[in-house]
Amino acid sequence: MEVVIVQDAQAGGELIAEGIADLLRRKPDALLGVATGSTPLPIYDALTAKVRSGAVDVSRARIAQLDEYVGLPAGHPESYRSTVLRQVVEPLGLDADAFMGPDGSAEDVQAACEAYDRALAEAGGVDLQILGIGTDGHIGFNEPCSSLASRTRIKTLTEQTRIDNARFFEGDIDQVPHHVITQGIGTILEARHLVLLATGEGKAEAVAQTVEGPVAALVPASALQLHPHATVVVDEAAASRLKLADYFRHTYANKPAWQGL
Ligand code: PGA
Repeated sequence: MEVVIVQDAQAGGELIAEGIADLLRRKPDALLGVATGSTPLPIYDALTAKVRSGAVDVSRARIAQLDEYVGLPAGHPESYRSTVLRQVVEPLGLDADAFMGPDGSAEDVQAACEAYDRALAEAGGVDLQILGIGTDGHIGFNEPCSSLASRTRIKTLTEQTRIDNARFFEGDIDQVPHHVITQGIGTILEARHLVLLATGEGKAEAVAQTVEGPVAALVPASALQLHPHATVVVDEAAASRLKLADYFRHTYANKPAWQGL
C-alpha cells in the first residue's frame, strides 16, 4: 500500500484527478468506480476542471457506482444514483448510459446484487475505484465485520453511519434508510487500482487502523492491505495518527508511484 500525505483535501482531489486523467490517456474507455459522500467531491471538481480546460478527454469513460440505499423512491435526490449523476456524470458531460449502478428499488434485491456483480465483470472490471472511508472503517457500505470475501449484497447500516449520513436528509436520522446495497469487499478488491481518500481529523483513527493495524473484518478498509495496487491519499489531519507518517512522506513525497505510469 502506498500512502501519500498531502496538505489538504483540495490537494488530494487534484492528485487523484491527475491519476484518473493519466489512466484515461492510456485507456480512454476506462471503467471508473466512484464513491459518494463529501470526501470525493474535490476529486470530481478537479477532474471536471481538467475536462473543461481540455487537459483530458473523458468522452469514452464509463462510471460505476459503489453502493446504493434500498427503498428510496426512484429519482430521490439523495439516492446514490441521483447523487452520482449530479456530481460526476453530468459535470463530466457523459451520457446516462455511460453509468452503471445497482438497482436499489428492485423487488428482488438479492437478484439485483448478483446482476450488478455480473455486469461489472462483463464490463471488463473496474480499472480505478475511488473510495472514501467511514469513521468506523467501512468502505462502500461494508460495515465492521463484513466478510473480507463478500460480494455485492444487501447490508444493514450501523447507527453511527446513519447518524453520519443524516446531514444529507435534513439532519433527520429517521429519513436515512436502514438498508443498502454495496459492492462487497471481495468485489471491491477486484478493481485494478484502489484509491482511498480520507481527509480531516475525524478519519485519523480509521486511517491508522486501515494502514498500520492488522487485516481485520472489524476494520473493513484494512482489506486494502491485501490488494497489490492500493493507494491511500490522506491530508495532514487524517494522517495525524500514523506512526510511519515520516516514512510515507519521505517515500512518496506527494507523488504516488502510479503517476505517469
Ligand atoms: P464521507 O463518507 O466522505 O462523507 O465522510 C465516507 C464514507 O462513509 O465512506
